[in-house]
Amino acid sequence: MIMGEIREETEKTAYDPKIAAFLCNWCSYAGADLAGVGRIQYPPTIRTIRVPCSGRINPLYILKAMANGADGVLVSGCHPGDCHYISGNYVARRKFALIKSLLTHVGLEEDRVSFSWVSAAEGGRFAEVVKGVTERVSALGPNKGIFKVDDGGAADE
Ligand code: FES
Repeated sequence: MIMGEIREETEKTAYDPKIAAFLCNWCSYAGADLAGVGRIQYPPTIRTIRVPCSGRINPLYILKAMANGADGVLVSGCHPGDCHYISGNYVARRKFALIKSLLTHVGLEEDRVSFSWVSAAEGGRFAEVVKGVTERVSALGPNKGIFKVDDGGAADE
């Protein structure tokens, strides 16, 4: 009985969510780099995927990340007006609003997906964003709402 409770508590505290972080090359990725160079601490929960622009993120990438084991997804791009491709981050914001409602529709908690603006000069802000995302996803627990269906690779073609 007591050992079971201890095990349960240990498992609870040992849960570190896996978060796929799609970062724009020009701003947020550089912000993450700056956080690293500045040795600013943040939870080691993100797996970084560098993209040319947040506007290039296909909503399917988010669903595929969740289907392949991510507990949460972070999409981060340049601040409004700073996108290197003029309006990519506005496009991303629109797609993001749609993906949130789609997630709710398929039974996933919308807090599993976050969107942020982080510039190349904001290492501290990047760390705060990761902390916030980690807290929200940790509170939800492991992603059990969407899982990979083995289709023999047909979906990748
Ligand atoms: Fe960074 Fe478009 S180049 S969001």
